[in-house]
Amino acid sequence: MSFLRLHCVTKRFGAAVALDNVTLQATAGSRTAIVGPSGSGKTTLLRLIAGFDVPDAGQVVLDGAVLADGPAALPAYRRGVGLVMQDGALFPHLSIADNIGFGLDRAAPNRAARIAELMRKVELDLAMSDRRPDALSGGQQQRVALARALAREPRMMLLDEPFSALDTGLRASTRRMVAALLADAGITTILVTHDQAEALSFADQLVVMANGKVCQAGTSHELYLRPRTPMVATFLGDAIILPAMLGAGYAACGLGRIPTEHVAMQGPRMIMLRPEQIALVPCRPSEGRLRGGPWGEIVDLDFGGSTCQVSIRLTATDRHPGQLLALPQMRRDLLDVGASVRLTVTGTAHVFDEGSPAD
Ligand SMILES: Nc1ncnc2c1ncn2[C@@H]1O[C@H](COP(=O)(O)OP(=O)(O)OP(=O)(O)O)[C@@H](O)[C@H]1O
Ligand SMILES: [Mg+2]
Repeated sequence: MSFLRLHCVTKRFGAAVALDNVTLQATAGSRTAIVGPSGSGKTTLLRLIAGFDVPDAGQVVLDGAVLADGPAALPAYRRGVGLVMQDGALFPHLSIADNIGFGLDRAAPNRAARIAELMRKVELDLAMSDRRPDALSGGQQQRVALARALAREPRMMLLDEPFSALDTGLRASTRRMVAALLADAGITTILVTHDQAEALSFADQLVVMANGKVCQAGTSHELYLRPRTPMVATFLGDAIILPAMLGAGYAACGLGRIPTEHVAMQGPRMIMLRPEQIALVPCRPSEGRLRGGPWGEIVDLDFGGSTCQVSIRLTATDRHPGQLLALPQMRRDLLDVGASVRLTVTGTAHVFDEGSPAD
């Protein structure tokens, strides 16, 4: 049963369509991550759910209550929805404690204790209570914004790139802390992020948006392994996308004949493999020619720390031109520009619903 339901929501700003007929659901207590290119409508979507903006058409329904039906909408303060913006949007003249307690009754006897509890929850040192926001780091300010949103005990929490100011290590630990905190409280959450890994690890439901539309929604596994389009595939990680000719249960492509689960599909289609399905073995060119199977030459290496991006020009055959593949690899020791490598593929090739090699 969905807790949040958006039905055919459209939002325009002048001639620009920020949201185009968006339909989306989230179950109670679930975590949804939204990813998509800049300008795809992610923030607009959160603002419509929070009530900071109204749709031109369509409904927003929360826990069975209609929050917006076209421009007729319930004001933000009556929705019980918390929104944490990227910049935190703290009140600069208020102390940290007063920022967090902003939505709490000033006269409530347990106000100070509640603020202290919230600071502990988001792992902020209580000694910071009297400081102003400008005396905190970006990451600490984001925690204050989160604590302020939690203070009102929202039914739903919307997070718009809340971890973007943090460096990689702190970002991952903050994300885990926030995910655990929201899960403990059973709060239905939507997280907008530019970070694919963050989206994949955070979400029960992952949504990819582009041009104001939902391209695909599903579990992280579904979207990573069975993306509907090449755009969704590449948005969620490195993908090897190749033209192929489908037969009964296999795809013939530049990497040989690879099994597919799409037994009924035939003819020319685009397929995808994830890089972890491809192993590289260095070989001599003569060995590559003799043993058959796909092989090629390393034409570029791009050092990136734990992984290295290896560009390989596949050896052309009469059926397949010499395609260029880019593969992230953990091993650098055996690879060099100019070296020959054989490629072995494990698992099945995913066939896209949309797009043929002629597109
Ligand atoms: N108040 C506004 N007035 C005019 N156009 C707007 C307004 N708010 C958003 N837009 C436009 O709507 C589209 C969607 O914007 P939105 O902020 O939702 O994108 P986004 O997916 O959050 O992008 P980003 O990843 O860069 O934050 C953009 O083309 C943007 O320029
Ligand atoms: Mg945005």
